[in-house]
Amino acid sequence: MAKAVSPMVGLSKGDRDAMLRAAVLAPSMHNTQPWRFRFHDWVVEVFRDRERELPAEDPDRRMLYLSLGAAIFNLRVEAAARGYGSEVRCPMDQSRPDLVAVIELGGPRSGQLQLLAPYVIHRRTNRRPFTDERVPAEVRAELGLSARIEGAELRWLDGPDRRWWLRMATKDAVAADDQDATKTAERRRWVGGDRAVDGVPSSALGPKAADGAAVVRELAATEADAARPVASFEHEPQFAVLTTRYDGPIDWLRAGQALERVLLEATAHGVSTSLLNQVIEHEDLRRQIDDPLGPWTRPQAVIRFGYGPTVPPTPRRLLADVVMSGDPTDDR
Ligand SMILES: Cc1cc2nc3c(=O)[nH]c(=O)nc-3n(C[C@H](O)[C@H](O)[C@H](O)COP(=O)(O)O)c2cc1C
Repeated sequence: MAKAVSPMVGLSKGDRDAMLRAAVLAPSMHNTQPWRFRFHDWVVEVFRDRERELPAEDPDRRMLYLSLGAAIFNLRVEAAARGYGSEVRCPMDQSRPDLVAVIELGGPRSGQLQLLAPYVIHRRTNRRPFTDERVPAEVRAELGLSARIEGAELRWLDGPDRRWWLRMATKDAVAADDQDATKTAERRRWVGGDRAVDGVPSSALGPKAADGAAVVRELAATEADAARPVASFEHEPQFAVLTTRYDGPIDWLRAGQALERVLLEATAHGVSTSLLNQVIEHEDLRRQIDDPLGPWTRPQAVIRFGYGPTVPPTPRRLLADVVMSGDPTDDR
């Protein structure tokens, strides 16, 4: 049952903290966690955190908005588990440029979101080798439905020719990125070593894949990480591209919600996932994995699915560091 919202009483601290905890467990590029939240009455405002953006690797901020969308989705899932419906608005208010979304709580719950709540804590990016077991057709169908409910499409890269295109485009993206000193320096800030609150620790990188294999992203930014052992990965990686019909910040926020819904649904079915997004970060290469005949032609994320070993969680910032207090009109 949806909870009736009383205008006199705000959210309890327990509800608020649980929603925040779920939000920050969302995936974000390089685990930058580029978000801040402000609660007032029955509204949650979601802000981008400009200190945590990736101007070299994510110049358009597509990955930023995808990450914010994933956090918004987790928050909505936990709200549903606590009996609250949620509605997301994107105000795009020029006088408040860091405000990316407003979540209004209350009203009817929709889309069975609460069923995904147990999986928020178990979802991980898994960069280890998967087995060769195929994801069954009925699970694929569920994953496709998850994307659709959130306004996106999941297109499977079946067949050697489509995988070949992905491999070639990824290879080109990696070669271009490795020659870009600004990108490499940016990556070094976020990837490698032991990490307490953010970034990708060395332990989350998994083994290296053979050169040009294009199965998992080679994120190594230090010599030690680059020298880690090589392992063999699944023979036919199972990739799907998450696409949207249009291509701007609002669509990226929607794609981020769809991404997280797909990842949580996969987790619920015992399916492991990782992302291979370098091609998406290069406009020219991104077009190569499009289907020029279809209407859903804006690729937003390349997701790998399969069955991998259990991997540990990555760190997160303290809730106190992502929550903003004060006057809602003062965003700084
Ligand atoms: C928009 C976006 C893009 C990402 N791109 C990649 C990628 O290309 N390769 C990769 O290995 N991980 C990628 N990730 C996964 C993040 O590195 C991961 O979410 C983060 O390190 C936190 O770890 P967790 O997902 O296990 O919680 C991406 C995540 C998001 C949300």
